[in-house]
This record gives sequence, structure tokens and C-alpha cells, in this order.
Amino acid sequence: MAFSAEFLQELAERNPIEDVVGEYVALTKRSGQNLFGLCPFHSEKTPSFSVSPAKQIYHCFGCGKGGSVINFIMEIERLSFPEAVEFLARRAGMAVPEQNADPNRGRRERLLNLNREAARFFYSQLSTNEGQAALDYMSRRQISPRVAKNFGLGFAPDGWEGLTRAMKDKGYTERELVLAGLAKSGKRGGVYDAFRNRLMFPVIDVRGNVVAFSGRILGDGEPKYLNSPDTPVFSKSHNLFGLNLAKKSKAGYIILVEGNIDVVSLHQAGFDSAVASLGTSLTGEQARLLSRYTKEAVICYDADTAGRKAAQRAIPMLEKLELTVRVVTVPGAKDPDEFIKTRGAEAFRALIEESENGVEYRLQRAADGFDLGTDEGKVGYLKEASRLIATLPDSVAREVYSMRVAEQCSVSADAVRDSVKLARRRQDRSATRRREREDTRPLRQAQPAGVPIKYANPASAAAETGIIRLLNQSPELFRGGLEPNPEDFSSPELRHIYETMLSLSRSGLDASAAAMSASLTPDEVSLYTNIIQEPVSAANGQKALADYIQKISRESHPQDTSDLRAVAAKLKETKGYGG
Ligand code: CTP
Ligand code: MN
Repeated sequence: MAFSAEFLQELAERNPIEDVVGEYVALTKRSGQNLFGLCPFHSEKTPSFSVSPAKQIYHCFGCGKGGSVINFIMEIERLSFPEAVEFLARRAGMAVPEQNADPNRGRRERLLNLNREAARFFYSQLSTNEGQAALDYMSRRQISPRVAKNFGLGFAPDGWEGLTRAMKDKGYTERELVLAGLAKSGKRGGVYDAFRNRLMFPVIDVRGNVVAFSGRILGDGEPKYLNSPDTPVFSKSHNLFGLNLAKKSKAGYIILVEGNIDVVSLHQAGFDSAVASLGTSLTGEQARLLSRYTKEAVICYDADTAGRKAAQRAIPMLEKLELTVRVVTVPGAKDPDEFIKTRGAEAFRALIEESENGVEYRLQRAADGFDLGTDEGKVGYLKEASRLIATLPDSVAREVYSMRVAEQCSVSADAVRDSVKLARRRQDRSATRRREREDTRPLRQAQPAGVPIKYANPASAAAETGIIRLLNQSPELFRGGLEPNPEDFSSPELRHIYETMLSLSRSGLDASAAAMSASLTPDEVSLYTNIIQEPVSAANGQKALADYIQKISRESHPQDTSDLRAVAAKLKETKGYGG
């Protein structure tokens, strides 16, 4: 254990979990002592994410994630354990013992510094002779020097080793250059620049680190964009270009566009909340990231078919996170950049203001797929529209859109309402069936919810779980002469949790979630909080503990003939009956 339990305990005390989580999740008091909010780790509409100030843990009844304040920071800030510890230490103004530094931290930090140096290098190349081409391209695209500087745009020269040589001079190794995605290994040894003759966009994360680059070709040609690969400091699906700036916007919404040029151009025109995904279609993680900074998303993808399809996919992902979604299609232009260049910022603002909401947009797209001049077309459209309307949770919204569709197809509103009702019933039935299938699996029920851990012996695991819950609540039971034998535990995870509690207890410490989290894997921590969030009666603890001990010892020694169950099992085995 790199950090002492005492240190972690103090860290947790100086970072009360309700305060830390409260900075990311709106928490309200609902019942008892616990606070509730929408889980930041999965999509949900009703709060099942709980924080217990008393136990200093969080636990989601929906997805099963849970842990101490340290685990929370690891998960939400995507940090390693030591990084999360350092993050919290900084938050509380505590010093982190030097020898406790993360062995990977040095490596990550070097890569981040390398990226920053690389961004400086690309920027400096703009003032070289060769870099003039990039300046020309930017002025052709009407990107002002001020905005270019704000985004840290730069130029990657056309040679094979401009960046590589400059970074080696600064002490970075070829290995680090390759690891950062800035260089590639040559066939005959050595490395060469990965980005050549491109306009460079640094990708900066919400904490201000340069984590990656996008390089755009100067003009036409393929591929239009090259993006850094995933590296130890960058995951494409978890980042959005421009979010470092957009998160500070006062607009109240975030504008999602396709290209980096669109982002830059929108910011320049005063829309400082534009972001772009990095050449992927919007991922769930990106949507979640967005939902941390805004309640409303305006999708403004390119006007082509690909853009429309991408918008269709993005809408439900954002709606699931309770974001209001609007879709803007720019008329008479290929993308928002072109629209603003030809029609001006005010015209774009008007577009946003009168933009259709997500349902209207999807209905419109559904209508596009049918010829409403024919009966067949109407029937097909009505079916699809009903299915869409049926998914709306709000009955008033269902009514409004039913009427609109009725008008569109010149049929009675009742006809549409009926069809929507039918679709709703069908959707309800399949949801019920899905739930029933889940519920009727007794063995699965005995398994921990939400964590990828399977119990080989659910009966014994139930007792092991009981022991852990009991000892968490009443650690003095450890000193009552009754001590479960770790070797009797059937589940390696539960055994590991138990042994960790035991060793903390032996050093006279509490098995606080923060102290536990140093030794447990994230799944084990989730399992642990899963177990201890359930209340247990403190009465008869001794007796309960004794029962559990007997149970797990029987389960682990079934050949013991003093055990009735084992006898029965034996009979069944040898005589074919009993059990
Ligand atoms: N794209 C990419 N990597 C990025 C950004 C965009 O691969 N970092 C891809 C998108 O997935 C999309 C296309 O590039 O397919 C969108 O680019 P476009 O809007 O055409 O890019 P712009 O930079 O705005 O260029 P243009 O001025 O030509 O519109
Ligand atoms: Mn574009």
C-alpha cells in the first residue's frame, strides 16, 4: 500500500464526500440520512445515486457503482488511484508525501508536457517561411489571428523530423514521441513525424491539459483530418474538441458540430459554446461529459445525409441524460461555418432560436422517408410516427404531436391517438417482459448487482456478505473472540474485502471506505459499498456472526459428517435420494 491508511483517512475527512460529490452532482435529501442525485456514471431519469455522509460512501442503486470519495474522483475525473489522492490532497490543501507518487504519474506528466511542448513547437512554425502556407489557409478560411491564438492553432511542417528533432533536443525520447502519438516508428528503425504539412489543433481537456492533436489538411484532400490515436493521456471517445473553452460559456447550451473549423468559426462569431467530437460519431461518454456542463444541446451537423444520420443517433443519447436537444439544419449551406460566412452571425442566432426540438426533427426525418401523397406512404409514416410519439414520457407532448401528425396526413386525431396508445402498450409489454426475465433468475438475483463479479457459491456468499456488513457496522465484534476464517470464504473478492478489513482492524483502524479503497480493485470497492450501504440490525450481532461463521465453514467443508446438509448431500450422491 503506497499510502498509509492514516493518511487516506485524513484525506477523506478533509474532503467530505457530500461536498466533493456535490460539486459534480446536484444532491437532495430524500429519505433518512442519505442524499440522492442523478448518477453521473450511467443514464437515468430518476435519482438512484446515493451519498451517505455517515458512512462516507456513494452507491448507485441503478448501476451498482460505489466507493469512497477517492473512488468517486478516480471514476469521474478518470484518474488513477494515486492521481485521485493527489487531486483531493490539492483540493484540501494537504501535502502529498513525495515517496507516494504514482509510478505512472511521472510518465503521464512527461507525456502531457511533451504535448504542451509540441503545441508550442507547432505554433512557432507559423512564423517560418513554410508556415506561411498555414497562415494563408487560415486567412482564406477567415480565421482571425486572435481566435487562432486562443485555440493554440499551429502548423506541422512537411519534413519527416521537424517535431521529432525539436522534442529530442528537449530531452524526450523516441519512445515517448511514439507513445504520445506524435511520431511513428520507421521500418528501418528510428521515428518520423506523424503530422506533416497540416494545420494543427491542440485538443485540450477540461483541466487544461494538451492531451492530443487534430491535424487538418491545408485545403482539399484525404484524409481531411488526422487525429492522435488513443494514448495513456487521451481517449478519443472521452474528449470533445473545444470543451475546454465551451465549458466556460454563459450561453446555457452547447453547440455540437462536426468539424474543428466549424468550432473555431462559431467561437469567432460569438458562439463560444461550440464543440466537436473528434472524428467519431458522438459517444456515450462524450454525451455524459457534455451533460456535466450543460442542460441543453444544439446539434448543428453538416447538412448532408451523413450529418442528418449522425444527428439522429445523437438525439436519444443526449435525451437519455435529460438534456434538452435541439437540432439546427443550416439552409443553403454545407455546414455552420459556411452559413455564418455567407449569412452572418445574427442569422445563425435566429436559426438556433427557432430551431426545432428533437421530436419535431425526427418526425420530419421520418416523413422524408415516405410519400405522403399516397395511402401507403401515409400508413407507413403514421406507424413510424406513432412509435416515436409513444416514447415521449409527457402526455401533453404526445397529444400535441399526435395532432400535428394527424394534420400532416389528413386523418382524424383520434386515429393517431389510438395508434400511439397501441404503440405504447406494445413498448410497455416488452419492457415488462424484459423485467420479468431479469427477476425470474434466482441465481442471478443472488449475485451482486452491477459489478462484474460472479459468486460460485451464492449460498455461502450470502453469509460472507453478512459477515462483512456486520463487521462494518460493529467492528467491536472482531474483538469478541469470534473470527471468521478467511479460508472458508468461497468468493475470492469477498475474502479479499474481509482480509482487508481484518488487517485494518488489527492495526487499530476503521475499515473506512477510503482506507479500504487503497487495497481493493474498483469492482471490489463497488461490491464493498454495495454491501455496507444496506442497514443491519445491531442487535444480536454475536449470534448472527456465529451463524454466518458456521454457515461458511459448512459450505467449505461439506465432507464434515457432523453437518446435516453434508450428510444429505452424501446420501443423495450414494443412494440417489435426499437433498
Ligand atoms: N473529423 C475528423 N476529425 C476531427 C474532426 C472532424 O475526422 N477532429 C471528420 C468528421 O467526422 C466529419 C468531417 O471530418 O466526417 C467533418 O468535417 P467538416 O465539417 O467537413 O470539417 P471542417 O473542419 O469544418 O472542414 P470544412 O471547412 O471542409 O467543412
Ligand atoms: Mn465544416
